[in-house]
Amino acid sequence: MIVESKEFSTNAGPPEIIFTDESGPLDLRAIYGRSAPLQVDLGCGDGSFLVAAAVANPDRDFLGIERLLGRVRNASRKIELSKLLNARVWRGAISDAVRLLPPNSVEVFYLMFPDPWPKRRHFRRRLVTEKFLFSIHQALVSQGLLRIATDQIDYFRKIELLAAHSPGFITASDEQIQPAPSTFEKRFSRAGAEIYRLVLRKISPVT
Ligand SMILES: C[S@@+](CC[C@H](N)C(=O)[O-])C[C@H]1O[C@@H](n2cnc3c(N)ncnc32)[C@H](O)[C@@H]1O
Repeated sequence: MIVESKEFSTNAGPPEIIFTDESGPLDLRAIYGRSAPLQVDLGCGDGSFLVAAAVANPDRDFLGIERLLGRVRNASRKIELSKLLNARVWRGAISDAVRLLPPNSVEVFYLMFPDPWPKRRHFRRRLVTEKFLFSIHQALVSQGLLRIATDQIDYFRKIELLAAHSPGFITASDEQIQPAPSTFEKRFSRAGAEIYRLVLRKISPVT
């Protein structure tokens, strides 16, 4: 796995990582230059939450996944400005990224305000499916967490239902103090929207 540099001015390594070998799994030690618990922000947007979490937790490594170039650039810029050694961003599809992560390597996945696709004919574009939960389960360490937040009650109820039928997860209590609200969380909170949260804990291997 080759990790290339993209205009990164500190000696920490590049904030945007490019995988030239997509057969995986990712060489996390090569990416971060150390071995530390990994947390992954799925659909990290402009990187506000990713950076706040990485600043607040220097003993953890953070990976943001985002498909939109402009948002990846914003996230990279924030990582650079904060001179973070423990945050990286990858431009690509969440499903590919999760597939490329080594099994049992992720302590926490964050899924903050996934695209809602509220129209029935677009439901099949929604990220959270049985298959998605399975691949998240594979990548999580034992007892690892998937933390979900959304303003969409209908999507939330469907995720709850999928989780209830997923033998590898239990619902966990939300004890974490979030380092900062994400950009969309701020936007929805300002608009007075209710925010629904779910924390799933990996409890057993699924075969
Ligand atoms: C509603 S925004 C939320 C952004 C951020 N998590 C926040 O809370 O501020 C959803 C983000 O996920 C990204 N996204 C959605 N589906 C994706 C996918 N399949 N692969 C990669 N990124 C995705 C979108 O481009 C967008 O930036």
